[in-house]
Amino acid sequence: MKKKIAFITGITGQDGSYLAEVLLNKNYIVHGMKRKSSSFNTERIDHIYENKKYKKKFFLHYGDISDSLRVLNLINTIKPTEIYNLAAQSHVATSFEIPEYTSDVNALGALRILEAIRSLKLKKTRFYQASSSELYGKIQEKSQSESTPFYPLSPYAVSKLYAFWITKNYRESFNIYACNGILFNHESPRRGETFVTRKITLGLNRIALGLDKCLYLGNIYSLRDWGHARDYALMQWKILQQKKPEDYVVATGKQYSVKFFVERCCKFLGIKIKWVGKGTNEKAVIVDLDIKKKLKVKKNDVIIRVSKQYFRPLDVKNLIGNSKKAQKKLGWKPKTNIEDLIREMMVSDRKEVLNSIKKYK
Ligand code: NAP
Ligand code: GDD
Repeated sequence: MKKKIAFITGITGQDGSYLAEVLLNKNYIVHGMKRKSSSFNTERIDHIYENKKYKKKFFLHYGDISDSLRVLNLINTIKPTEIYNLAAQSHVATSFEIPEYTSDVNALGALRILEAIRSLKLKKTRFYQASSSELYGKIQEKSQSESTPFYPLSPYAVSKLYAFWITKNYRESFNIYACNGILFNHESPRRGETFVTRKITLGLNRIALGLDKCLYLGNIYSLRDWGHARDYALMQWKILQQKKPEDYVVATGKQYSVKFFVERCCKFLGIKIKWVGKGTNEKAVIVDLDIKKKLKVKKNDVIIRVSKQYFRPLDVKNLIGNSKKAQKKLGWKPKTNIEDLIREMMVSDRKEVLNSIKKYK
């Protein structure tokens, strides 16, 4: 059988790193595009790059999804059997500040790849587009499936809406095997530090170990359907293995608030909090703590405050996915529950904070 060759854009990101592992384990040759940056940006994939086992199977190329010619040339050279377009300005709040850049990368990025597949006549190449539950925005149905109408609420979501439709359009116009994975939020120890879950797991560990006093958050009443990125990477691959190209929702079907996430992380640390105040005056105060854990906090410390700075001009308040189609056709079953996800992230961030303390001692 001919070797499968994958090309991943956004390979240095959270999902890119897990997907590369999934594909290498399935004996693919994996090519990834990384950006030129002034500091190291390959932390999440260094363990793969440095593994001798993958020396002839894992290749990185400089490039930027906003550079059409580079994208075309890379695809022409690699001749991938599967392309996973994960590259994105993926931070929703930031997209309000840099909407044009976000659109160029997220919307036209997908178009550039699809145009390369079309103009190079790569009839056998399959294309995966990293679509998002942010498309549902102002939700039109209680739980969101492939048939729920979209109502994007940010420049990020609007850019991803274009990418969704251009993917569908190239599938229908040019018969390209192109699919959207409409993935709900997925987190992990490799999550970027400015996304809310990681901000909380890292921030609370820093407080517990005495590096910070307080963590500032925005809308703590926001509700999300959080899964584990490792599980979702496998589904990205599965979506491209089906006979017919289709779009799929991937979600856990369970929903929690940011506030709940904070409480569970505190519980993991051995800290009991009480919420006091309202609106931007709301804060979390320590009411009890496990003295055996030798934490660098004490009763009555305020460890969470709400700050206007982290509110968005418009926020997606409420997301919960209906992934029945993926369950039926792809055998999708969410493996990691919220407690396991929190535990894994908290343990990993404790190690990270302890290492940084050692480094600067
Ligand atoms: P991430 O950690 O922010 O990774 C984004 C990746 O895109 C990084 O490798 C980044 O490179 C790269 N990138 C950014 N701008 C680029 C450009 N101009 N040219 C080339 N590469 C560029 O995001 P993620 O959580 O892994 O998400 C992966 C994809 O899934 C994204 O498209 C995201 O929008 C989408 N998505 C994510 C979720 C989620 O909950 N995680 C849910 C639905 C959809 P650097 O490392 O150099 O910054
Ligand atoms: N980032 C952040 N920082 N979010 C906060 C904060 C804070 O301090 N405080 C509250 N939130 C709320 C946000 O307002 C939002 O409602 C929710 O927490 C989740 O925010 P993020 O973790 O930044 O993720 P997101 O849901 O906006 O976007 C992520 O998931 C999308 C899928 O639905 C990103 O990964 C997107 O790329 C992805 O498409």
